[in-house]
Amino acid sequence: MARKRVAVLISGRGSNLQALIDAARAPDYPAEIVRVIANVPEAGGLARAADAGIAVETIDHRKFPNRPAFEAVLDAAIRASGAELVCLAGFMRLLTASFVEAWRDRLINIHPSLLPAFPGLDTHGRALAAGVRFAGCTVHFVRAEMDSGPIIVQAAVPVLPGDDEQRLAARVLAAEHRAYPLALALVASGRTRVSGGTVSVDGHTTADSLLINPAA
Ligand code: GAR
Repeated sequence: MARKRVAVLISGRGSNLQALIDAARAPDYPAEIVRVIANVPEAGGLARAADAGIAVETIDHRKFPNRPAFEAVLDAAIRASGAELVCLAGFMRLLTASFVEAWRDRLINIHPSLLPAFPGLDTHGRALAAGVRFAGCTVHFVRAEMDSGPIIVQAAVPVLPGDDEQRLAARVLAAEHRAYPLALALVASGRTRVSGGTVSVDGHTTADSLLINPAA
């Protein structure tokens, strides 16, 4: 089967981008990254993409008078790359409803919490303040409201005694690097179906085991 062509949008260091690049090196991975686009010229992820031989582009949102003007150029760049799917990987710009609708069910985001808990910024600080026993990450199809949309994959990690934001963020980030390649593979291979606000996954298996923290 032909590999799905994917554009990845970033704003920063690009460690999730790197996880997708590494996964896509496998010959049987169902997606290939054809373009990486940053809205911030200094985004560290641009060098990761260039090192992997992927075409990169910077579209600096500050050079546009408003969101629609920025998004028109972004949309044109994605389409010019031939991408069929778009992955947001630490892309820290809100997208308008019309952009999101144009890419409905082809636009994927990762967020470092178990959504719908803790959308937005400072997720780890808020999770620690709330005293939750599990944290994690969510890969989801994007809807207009920030950090919302049908969930494809979640990965949970325990919150441990003595955690601060850095320790928790690092544990969640390691989970992100496994969850995003899995989610993209499921979507790219046509195994996901969106219906209403949820996603069903063909032929998936899940261990029916209890996670309990503190351990009983
Ligand atoms: C990741 O933790 C990602 O989940 C988060 O930004 C970080 C980017 O890191 N995204 C969001 O908070 C989106 N709401 P990376 O550039 O190393 O992939």
